[in-house]
Amino acid sequence: MSRRYYVTTPIYYVNDIPHIGHAYTTIAADILARRNRLLGKEVFFLTGTDEHGQKVEKAAAERGRSPKEHADLMVTNFMEVWKKLGISIDAFIRTTDDEHVRTVQGLLQMLWDRGEIEKRQYTGWYCTPDERFWTEKDLVDNKCPDCGRAVEQIKEENYFFLMSKYQEKLVSHIAANPSYIMPESRKNEVLGFLRANDLGDLCVSRPKSRLKWGISLPFDDGFVTYVWFDALVNYFSATRYLAPCSASAPKGGFWWPASLHLVGKDILTTHAVYWSTMLMALNLPLPEKIFAHGWWTVEGRKMSKSLGNVFDPHAMVDKYGLDAFRYFLFREVPFGADGDFSEEAVINRINIDLANDLGNLLSRFSTMAEKYTSGTIDVRPNTPPAVHQATSELAGTSLAVIDELLADTYWDSLRFNIILERLWDIVRAANNYIARTEPWKLAKNDMESVTCVLFNIWNALRVTSLLVRPFMPETSGKISTQLGLDRKSEEDFTDAVKWDWRPDYPIKVAKGEQLFPRIEKITERTDKMTEDTTAAGAAPVAPIAPIEQTNLISIQDVMKVELKVGKVIEAERVKKSDKLIRLQVNTGEMRQIVAGIGKAYTPEDLVGRNIVVVSNLQPAKLMGVESQGMLLAATGSDGVPIIITPEKDAEPGSRVK
Ligand code: ME8
Repeated sequence: MSRRYYVTTPIYYVNDIPHIGHAYTTIAADILARRNRLLGKEVFFLTGTDEHGQKVEKAAAERGRSPKEHADLMVTNFMEVWKKLGISIDAFIRTTDDEHVRTVQGLLQMLWDRGEIEKRQYTGWYCTPDERFWTEKDLVDNKCPDCGRAVEQIKEENYFFLMSKYQEKLVSHIAANPSYIMPESRKNEVLGFLRANDLGDLCVSRPKSRLKWGISLPFDDGFVTYVWFDALVNYFSATRYLAPCSASAPKGGFWWPASLHLVGKDILTTHAVYWSTMLMALNLPLPEKIFAHGWWTVEGRKMSKSLGNVFDPHAMVDKYGLDAFRYFLFREVPFGADGDFSEEAVINRINIDLANDLGNLLSRFSTMAEKYTSGTIDVRPNTPPAVHQATSELAGTSLAVIDELLADTYWDSLRFNIILERLWDIVRAANNYIARTEPWKLAKNDMESVTCVLFNIWNALRVTSLLVRPFMPETSGKISTQLGLDRKSEEDFTDAVKWDWRPDYPIKVAKGEQLFPRIEKITERTDKMTEDTTAAGAAPVAPIAPIEQTNLISIQDVMKVELKVGKVIEAERVKKSDKLIRLQVNTGEMRQIVAGIGKAYTPEDLVGRNIVVVSNLQPAKLMGVESQGMLLAATGSDGVPIIITPEKDAEPGSRVK
């Protein structure tokens, strides 16, 4: 296993105000950097800003500033937001740094000297906002194929990097290294494109008559460097002057190549094709991996400043908390896929996964520890027969999850949502363990079993706090503190995360604040800029017959309903009612449900049955008996209820979607 880990984010355009899309890539890199530090590796985590080019020159001119003054002002937006998001960067590169400029010029000179760059007369179509040239056949309806905006024809002399020379070599490299471009679907897109099209050469200059704000070509002062050539080099130049240096990470070639370039899907081509071929021409090793993640949309539409539907990460953190926001982004959608951002979805995740599952587990544990053992945890308890079966099931789930999450499989393919989903299997198993062992009943006459149960919940929480640390560093610390752990003793992560790890000091639980208070509803929508109503970018779809229905709800509304599989443990009729039955149901936690099914079912019919429960319904009283949810039932032809049951046995607490 390599002891070195170098991860990068794109360097963001200074013109943009950082939004949740930028936050997404940077938090992903932060999670990976934190995990690799926990594994004891030397880590270099780089982000920064892309500061040259036409857009910055234009924006600065409009504000009566020099481009550098403009960049100096705008760059602080990024630095501040990374602080707010708890991003543990090792360095921040700006393409206006002198050392970077010198590196770009040095590499250009090298390519020029080796005949890898040529001067040519060029006619092409130029998209100013994207700063990209297109050939006639690239255009779609005479517009930029990327952004759909107008292009202008330009005829001029320019310098070209002979990228086409490397087409075959690049195809072979991608084909021979299956994890070079990920996810696989993106790799196939790039390979498909490269196999079906002739790669042209890349124009790497702009005449100063048209653009002054850029790095001068070292061999022709009449030109500046194309902004993408300049920007991509940042990953290499940073290793020369910004990377950490130590006895085990000596100066020089230690940090190149990068372990991972994280990018959004919008800029995969520039990385997979331009950057890879540039490195080939420079005889530099290629990065180990380029991962293109999906896009966040808002109400199904691209999020952009010009569309005015941008969510501000500062506001999200202020409103929902840093760790909840970080958790949401990586739990909600697979990293390679697109996702739709909504505050409803954030609240849903907070209430279900964080408040209900994790937060409740910790507070139930610390309350019981305080009540039954005055907070003292015996870390080497016996496992009495009364709790043996449940204990070995909890240990079994936890051991399997620990193994999976310590291994590289999910991490190598950046399946953050699966990692969190598996981790929550421990959380749910621990909640289930409480429901099954019922320590409040054991406490009447079997304190040995209570001690055992408390220790195992403590252990499940301890392991969870370690495994969740890269995603939610603050929460991890809070859990450790409440569990009475001395963080120094967890320094050897791979050892400490083991199920049979034991502290060599006495454990005293310190009950603390609730980790994630429930959020009842959106009190106030977070301000965004006003929305464009032109629906730009909406793809045409074939017409389908409409369904006449007036009570339609959105997917967000559906997502609000939490459905779980429940197992009926006890059932009895509610006194003085022939319709109501009171059920004790295990839905990962024990809950009481009062259901109006008494005319169709007897309590005996129900015990042991699997049902489907709405588990996030506000509690209500039916004939004076509290119901903490609702079971699902169809209405039969004669009006009697028919209980909905999963077709096969499913674990109590499994989500129904
Ligand atoms: O492209 N969803 O910079 P940029 C997810 N300077 N991620 C998003 C997003 C969204 N809606 N919007 C932006 C540039 N991103 C160049 C990069 S690198 C050598 C030069 C993220 O400011 C995503 O990572 O336009 C995307 O690739 C990046 O921001 C683009 O940032």
